[in-house]
Amino acid sequence: MSVSLLGRSLLTLLDYTPDEILYLLKLAKKVKEESKSGKIKNRFQGKTLAMLFEKLSTRTRCSFETAFGEEGGHPVLLSKNDIQLGGKETLEDTARVLGRMFSAIQFRGFKQETVETLAKYSQVPVYNGLTDLFHPTQALADIMTMQESFGEIKGRKLVFTGDGRNNVARSLMVICSKLGIHFTVITPAELNPDDALRGQCAPLAEASGAVISVTPNIDSVKDADALYTDVWASMGEESKKNERVKLLSPYQVNQSVMNKTGKKETIFLHCLPAVRGEEVTADVIDGPQSRVWDQAENRKHTIKAVMLATIK
Ligand code: CP
Ligand code: NVA
Repeated sequence: MSVSLLGRSLLTLLDYTPDEILYLLKLAKKVKEESKSGKIKNRFQGKTLAMLFEKLSTRTRCSFETAFGEEGGHPVLLSKNDIQLGGKETLEDTARVLGRMFSAIQFRGFKQETVETLAKYSQVPVYNGLTDLFHPTQALADIMTMQESFGEIKGRKLVFTGDGRNNVARSLMVICSKLGIHFTVITPAELNPDDALRGQCAPLAEASGAVISVTPNIDSVKDADALYTDVWASMGEESKKNERVKLLSPYQVNQSVMNKTGKKETIFLHCLPAVRGEEVTADVIDGPQSRVWDQAENRKHTIKAVMLATIK
């Protein structure tokens, strides 16, 4: 397949074709093999990356910073205390200025609109490192981890249980719809993914053969190849914590839920950070079916692949 992503931003994954996503995953596999054999090539020499953070981060920040820096690039961390982000200066002006100084921009924060505006006005690739609505670089690492466990991922079943309307569940719905992975969200009706996103995913799923479903029934973990969960209250939703604990306690991933899949080879995934004893029990996340550390490592390889493919 001939794919060029030079100059492209990564904002939601909705505008990436299945071939483009598979190309990024293939490149990430190559990058991981190179990294394991010590092949670092200075491919970002002379390039600069602005990393903007309104919310905290361990994996995403470290993935962007180490992937870029170890290939000779110069990453610059700008937290919300360091930079105007729609405060004294308009976001459009900040974007224009950053675009003159940096080869690419990473943004993590609240509004999806912010990352879209940065992309619109900066004229350089902009990467969504998590917003309230999407976490596309996470979804790439998640699918890479499934590929490592299962080889071909088309036709596999991924089940997400927990807060079905959060950024991680939404991005999984997008990538599974594109790649033909059956995707079930198990969540109480109050936390269903919104109809607009489901409407956008429906034709994609039809084209790829993916079956997408949303249900409150935890027994729907049956036949899952991968069982995924995430925190019950995402960043910015701390005030909802008690309400979520009540609502989501029946959706915890514990060994009995893992066993309900009926498959011994089911893997457990979590984007991390995790709260042991809430969305997942320690025996599962620290047990033999867990792939969460590979998944965390794959953040770096997939993010390096995205930057290699898009930075001019
Ligand atoms: N999974 C993830 O995005 O982790 P961080 O919040 O630590 O970046
Ligand atoms: N849904 C979580 C993901 C963290 C990586 C959050 O937004 O806090």
